[in-house]
Amino acid sequence: MRTYDETTYGDLIAEQYDRINRISPQQTQAAADALAELAKNGPALELGIGTGRVALPLREKGIAVHGIDASSLMIEELRKKPGGDAIPVTVGNFGDVAVEEKFSLIYVVFNTFFALLTQEEQVQCFANVASHLLAGGVFVIEAFVPDLSRFTRNQNMVATNVGVDGVRFDVSMYDPMHQRVDSQHVIIANGSIQTYPVQLRYAWPSELDLMAQLAGLKLCERWSNWQRSPFASGDGAHISLYQQA
Ligand SMILES: C[S@@+](CC[C@H](N)C(=O)[O-])C[C@H]1O[C@@H](n2cnc3c(N)ncnc32)[C@H](O)[C@@H]1O
Repeated sequence: MRTYDETTYGDLIAEQYDRINRISPQQTQAAADALAELAKNGPALELGIGTGRVALPLREKGIAVHGIDASSLMIEELRKKPGGDAIPVTVGNFGDVAVEEKFSLIYVVFNTFFALLTQEEQVQCFANVASHLLAGGVFVIEAFVPDLSRFTRNQNMVATNVGVDGVRFDVSMYDPMHQRVDSQHVIIANGSIQTYPVQLRYAWPSELDLMAQLAGLKLCERWSNWQRSPFASGDGAHISLYQQA
């Protein structure tokens, strides 16, 4: 049986990623607009850059973007797009932040921080990010707020699309001890079945703030969307901004 590592998600979903990710172009543009302001014309680094969904519009706004991604197939998809070959990408585990430069902005969006599957890796990532921020630089995380009420007997199955030619659903199992959720996106269409595995370790905003504190960073703002609405209890997602304490 194939084991899951940092390349698995990207390599298996790369060809379909842009078609099935369900994020509107308007949401992506709003993210790029907000990130461009935070970069203040300085260089930016995206952890888990993928196919360049956010990095490309950010670069179009004049920001020099560098990326890290473990999946060479996701990077291939980025390279096929206009401007995609102008973005330097380091192939590797983004938790290591194995790049020489420092940045005004380091960001990790669309829950990708949770792709680091242990608390230790997540803590280390914060520390590595902190050592790659220029003075006054910002680390931005966009992530969901865990909602354990989704799970019954530590399992969940939810339909995400039901069409005439096919159906898409997500099947998940949850391990409360390790804060792990292992899922498969399943697509049945035109008589064939495709499965796309995704594994993550979720963390509450408060745990992320503590990881930041361990790395010498502190929370400076928390929004509930890219329009910068202030985060409120009950919001399902957050965008958290950290700076040197
Ligand atoms: C959900 S996609 C997000 C891509 C892009 N940031 C976006 O918002 O569209 C997650 C990306 O992170 C990459 N990834 C996951 N775990 C990784 C790791 N530990 N190190 C490097 N890249 C990783 C995957 O290959 C994939 O490209």
